[in-house]
Amino acid sequence: MNHNNRVACVMVGLPARGKTYIAQKVCRYLQWVGIQTKVFNVGNYRRQLTGAQTDHSFFDPHNEEASQLRLQCAIEALNDMLRWFKKDHGVVGIYDATNSTASRRRLLRERLEAADIQVMFIESVCDAEDIVLRNIMQVKLNSPDYADGVESETIVNDFRARIEHYEGVYEPVTEDESTFVKMVNVGSKVIINRICGYLQSRVVYYLMNLHIVPRAIFFSRHGESMYNVLGKLGGDSDLSPRGRKYSEALPGLISKHLDGQNLTVWTSTMRRTIQTGQHLPYPKLQWKALDELDAGVCDGLTYEDVEQQYPEDFALRDDDKFNYRYRGGESYRDVVLRLEPVIMELERQHNILIVGHQAILRCIYAYYLNYSHEELPYIKIPLHTVLKLTPRAYGCDVEQYKFDIEAVDTYRANPKRPSSLKRVGAHTPTTSADLRA
Ligand code: ATP
Ligand code: F6P
Repeated sequence: MNHNNRVACVMVGLPARGKTYIAQKVCRYLQWVGIQTKVFNVGNYRRQLTGAQTDHSFFDPHNEEASQLRLQCAIEALNDMLRWFKKDHGVVGIYDATNSTASRRRLLRERLEAADIQVMFIESVCDAEDIVLRNIMQVKLNSPDYADGVESETIVNDFRARIEHYEGVYEPVTEDESTFVKMVNVGSKVIINRICGYLQSRVVYYLMNLHIVPRAIFFSRHGESMYNVLGKLGGDSDLSPRGRKYSEALPGLISKHLDGQNLTVWTSTMRRTIQTGQHLPYPKLQWKALDELDAGVCDGLTYEDVEQQYPEDFALRDDDKFNYRYRGGESYRDVVLRLEPVIMELERQHNILIVGHQAILRCIYAYYLNYSHEELPYIKIPLHTVLKLTPRAYGCDVEQYKFDIEAVDTYRANPKRPSSLKRVGAHTPTTSADLRA
C-alpha cells in the first residue's frame, strides 16, 4: 500500500454530537468493503486510566490535573494509532475524541503528517437542542461514565455541565487548518474543504448519505424455488408451491410490523424474488445489483455435482469462501463490491423490505451486524423467514420471524471451518438473532 493512501479521520465536536456513532459507522462500512480500518476512542483510554465514573468537573478546562490526564490519554491513543498504521498496515484510522481546540488538532496533525498519514477532520456541529437532548437520553444514560442506579435527571444535568465546559473552549475547524468535512445538524448541511483522493471522497460520500430517522429494514429470501427443491444452484426458476404459499403469507406479517408506515420493496431482477414480492401492496423497485451471486459454470448444478465435476474448485471454495470466484462467475468479495450502491441507498432510505437471495442477504446482513469476511459466507439466512433490523445508536436490533411453511434447507456448512471465529470491531448488535453457523 502506498503510504499516501493512509488516512486519519479525526473526529471533532462537542459531546453528544454523534461523533462515536459516525466513527463506528464509517469503520463498519470501510471494513465491509475490505479497507483495513480501526477506531481509537480516547474516552476508553480515559476510563482505563482514571476509572469510569468521573463527574463533569473532570472536563473543566481550569482543572489542571485532569487536563494533564486528558492530554496523556489523547497521546496514548495517538501513539497506538500510529503503531497500528505502521505494524498492522492500517489504512484508515479513526481518532474519536472531541478534539475541540485548534491546538489539540495541531498536535495530532503534526504527528500524523510526520508519519506520512493524511489528516481529515470530521466535525459534527449541532445546535438543535432537541437532538442533543435525545442523544444524551439515547446513549449517555447507559454510558459507563455513570454508575448503575444514578437518576436520569442527575445524568442529564451532569452531561450538560460537561458540554458547557467544552463550549467554553471549543474552536470550530477553520479552512486553513486542513482537509475537513463539517456536518451541520445531522447532514442538513455538509461543508467540505480540500477533500482529495479516493479514500477521502469515499468517506465523504458515505457521510452525506447518513440520517438518524428511526426506521426498519426487513430481509426476506425469496420463497422456496423449484431449483431449491432440486438442490440446484443459481438459475432463474419459479417458486415452488410452498414458495407461492410464502409469497401469499408475507404481506400479513410485514403490515403487522409497519403500523401503517410507508415501505418500499426491493427485489432482484430474478423471477423468484419478483414472484415472492408480487402480493405486497407497496411500491417496488428491481435492482440488478441484488441478483444472486453468479455461480458461473456451476450454475444449475447441485453441490454434489460441483464436488464431482470440479473437485479442486470445491475444495478451494471451502478453503476461502469469501474470496473464491466461481469460474466465469463471482466471489462473495465481488458481490460486496457490486452491493456498495445498494448500501449507500439503504442508508438514505426509510423503511425497506429487501426480497433477496441467500448470498446477497448475507452480504447486506454482514454490513449491518459487522460480521468478518470469514464469517460472512456462512451466515444462516433460512428460507421462509423474515429478519427485521432496527438500527440503534451503536448497533442494530434483530428480530427473526419464521413462517410455518416448510422449505428445504439450502445451507451448506464448511467441513473445514475453524470452530471459533471472532466478530470484527467493537460494534455489537444491541440484540441479535444468532445467525452464525
Ligand atoms: P461524546 O463526545 O460524549 O463521546 P459523541 O459526540 O461521540 O459524544 P455519540 O455518543 O456518538 O456522541 O452520540 C450518539 C447519538 O448521536 C445517537 O443517538 C445518534 O442518533 C446521534 N447522531 C448521529 N449522527 C449525528 C449527527 N451528525 N449529529 C448529531 N447527532 C447525531
Ligand atoms: O442454493 C440457493 C442459493 O441462492 C444459490 O443460488 C447460490 O449459489 C447459493 O445459495 C449461495 O450460497 P453458498 O454461497 O452458500 O453456496
